[in-house]
Formats: sequence, C-alpha cells, structure tokens
Amino acid sequence: MRQHVNPLSRIHQQPRPLPPPAQLFAQPSRPLHLDIGCARGRFLLALAPLQSGWNHLGLEIRRPLVAAAEADRIAAELSNLHFLYCNANVSLEAWLAALPQGLLQRVSIQFPDPWFKTKHHKRRVLQPALLRAIATALAPGSCLFLQSDVLAVITPMVAQCESCGWFERPAADGRPWRAANPLPLPTERELQVLAKGLPVYRVLYQRNGATVPPQAAPPPL
Ligand SMILES: C[S@@+](CC[C@H](N)C(=O)[O-])C[C@H]1O[C@@H](n2cnc3c(N)ncnc32)[C@H](O)[C@@H]1O
Repeated sequence: MRQHVNPLSRIHQQPRPLPPPAQLFAQPSRPLHLDIGCARGRFLLALAPLQSGWNHLGLEIRRPLVAAAEADRIAAELSNLHFLYCNANVSLEAWLAALPQGLLQRVSIQFPDPWFKTKHHKRRVLQPALLRAIATALAPGSCLFLQSDVLAVITPMVAQCESCGWFERPAADGRPWRAANPLPLPTERELQVLAKGLPVYRVLYQRNGATVPPQAAPPPL
C-alpha cells in the first residue's frame, strides 16, 4: 500500500456525500469525536470502548485502511464507532455544516502527513477552509487537539489556529507545547515516535464564543 496519497490528485478531488450521524451510530445524539487522518484506525478501535459515552468517527483518504478498520469495528460490535473513506479537504465541509448544533465536541488531527517540500504544502490537511468548517461546527468550549513529531508541520497549524480568532488555549497548558496527551491513548504513529525517544509537539485548543463570519461570495466574473 502507498505510504502517502496525493490529496490533490483528480481521483481524490471527487466529493463524497458522507452519511449523517443517524446512519453511523446506534445513539447518534451522543457527543461526537472526529479524528481526521485515522489511518488503520487502531487508536479509535481502542478508544471507542473506553469512551463509550461518545461517538467516534475516523476519516481516512486511503481506502484499504478504512475497509480494514471497518472490518475490525464490525467484528468488535462497536456501535459508537465508524470509519469513512474520504478526502477531508473535499468532503468534510458539507457534512460538518449539516451536523446538529452542539454535536461535534472534539476534533483531533494527529501526526498529519508532513509534505515537506514547499510546493507540496498545499497537500497538507489543515488548510484554512477546513479550519473554518471545523470552527463553524464546534460548539463553544469544545476541543481541537493537534499533535505532530514534526515542528515544521505543527508550527503553521498553530499559526492558523492562533490567527483565526476562533480558538483559545487553556491557561494551564504548557507553552509552546502541551506536555501530556489529553486523550487516554496514543495513536500508532505516536507509539512509534515515543519508542524512538523523539519529541511530540501537542496543542489543545478550545473553541471560543467568536462567531465564524460567513465566507465572502466570490467577485462576479
Ligand atoms: C502519518 S498518518 C497518521 C495516522 C494516525 N493519525 C496516527 O497518528 O497514527 C496521516 C494519515 O492521514 C491521512 N490523510 C492525509 N491527508 C488526508 C485527507 N486529506 N483526508 C483524509 N485523510 C488524510 C493519511 O492517509 C494517513 O493515513
């Protein structure tokens, strides 16, 4: 399987309608945790039974990983977990906009693909449009958790979150990086990084009460 797929390739630019929570979870009104770029899903497969009062949705652009994660979820009979194949930059915005107010209470983006070359930065997952869609859907007080082992990747993510005006960092959090993971389990990538004794850069944001203004309409042609 390919390690990285190009999210800007034509095949990944096709929007996919994502099913609403009522079609994904046994109890769709539970608080929702969205993990963007969940890979093989082992983190959520372990988290869902631990946090059974939540629904957990993993999104992943590599379709075979989603099929394998879904097979494990079905075998484990986890009705508060679902995995969906999509390009989060293409298909998530419409889905988030249709969510019932207050349902989305946590978003995590953990160890996103780095795309080191400057000309490839536009392939990185946290783009301004996605951040806007997340901020619009997250209720005040809800969390956005970001972590990476690559300083050059997380630094611009933090810059976006700090400059948009829609998020605050809890005062008690370490600066510039939060020492502990607020989630009770590490991801697969996190385990690999920690096993090598390498640093992990973490930030936990809370959605503040600022309104996300509607996007300006494009100028007439
Ligand atoms: C480095 S892996 C980290 C996986 C996992 N979060 C972890 O920490 O172990 C990043 C994942 O994000 C997925 N990904 C990258 N861009 C994406 C996009 N636009 N939409 C959905 N998934 C994406 C990749 O396919 C990959 O599986």
